[in-house]
Amino acid sequence: MMAVRVLPTAQEVAVAAADLFDELLRRQPDAVLGLATGSTPLGMYDELIRRHDQEGLSFAEARAFLLDEYVGLPREHPGRYRNVILRQLTDRVGLPAHRVHAPPVESPDLAAACVTYEGKIADAGGVDLQVLGLGTDGHIAFNMPGSEFTSRTRLTTLTEQTVLDNARFFGGDATLVPREAVTQGLATIMQARSIVLIVTGAGKAAALHSLVEGPLSEQMPASVLRDHPRTTVLVDQVAVQLLSLR
Ligand code: GLP
Repeated sequence: MMAVRVLPTAQEVAVAAADLFDELLRRQPDAVLGLATGSTPLGMYDELIRRHDQEGLSFAEARAFLLDEYVGLPREHPGRYRNVILRQLTDRVGLPAHRVHAPPVESPDLAAACVTYEGKIADAGGVDLQVLGLGTDGHIAFNMPGSEFTSRTRLTTLTEQTVLDNARFFGGDATLVPREAVTQGLATIMQARSIVLIVTGAGKAAALHSLVEGPLSEQMPASVLRDHPRTTVLVDQVAVQLLSLR
């Protein structure tokens, strides 16, 4: 079941999302966290850092898997998603870097490495709680419109819209954004025991509208989540403005 919870502001959404990770980690300190990059989860990450600093929330035994990674950036590039998440969250909450895993992008046999990545997630016991952002076209991770609901971790090509959306992370220059990435598939994401999808801001209103009120469709990759047993969609007031049921 996909439950939609509307909160007044993005800050309240960030706190509610942080509560889910907080509860999980206090119950199960070695939990497997599914982390996402992009601007959406940043408020939640800041709240988790605050709780780590001020309330003793520990990530020392946790493990983390990233949803996606760009192909073609040097290992030390600040835009590499693994570097982004170390900087924005894991290094700041004491989650050891060797337990932060990103999809493989350098292997000469990427297809085999993608299978290995899925095996690593399975060996860790599967993702306990996955955070997701929503692309303006309805993508989750780098599963672009048209991605099959049965898709697994694989190489994918970004749409022009996504390249433009992500140019802000490359100094505003779309020519610097990689065109390819390795992403967990929709079926991979659906294996997470719990999922929290965060949707904030007016820019996501159209995507949220088709996710919640449109058809279940591979043209709206996030709609796969409507069949997930434990997905919470946390949204702010400006993101729900196009919903007829609100
Ligand atoms: C990017 C990422 C996704 C992210 C989404 C939304 O392309 N690969 O993981 O959730 O787009 O981005 P943002 O949160 O910056 O709006």
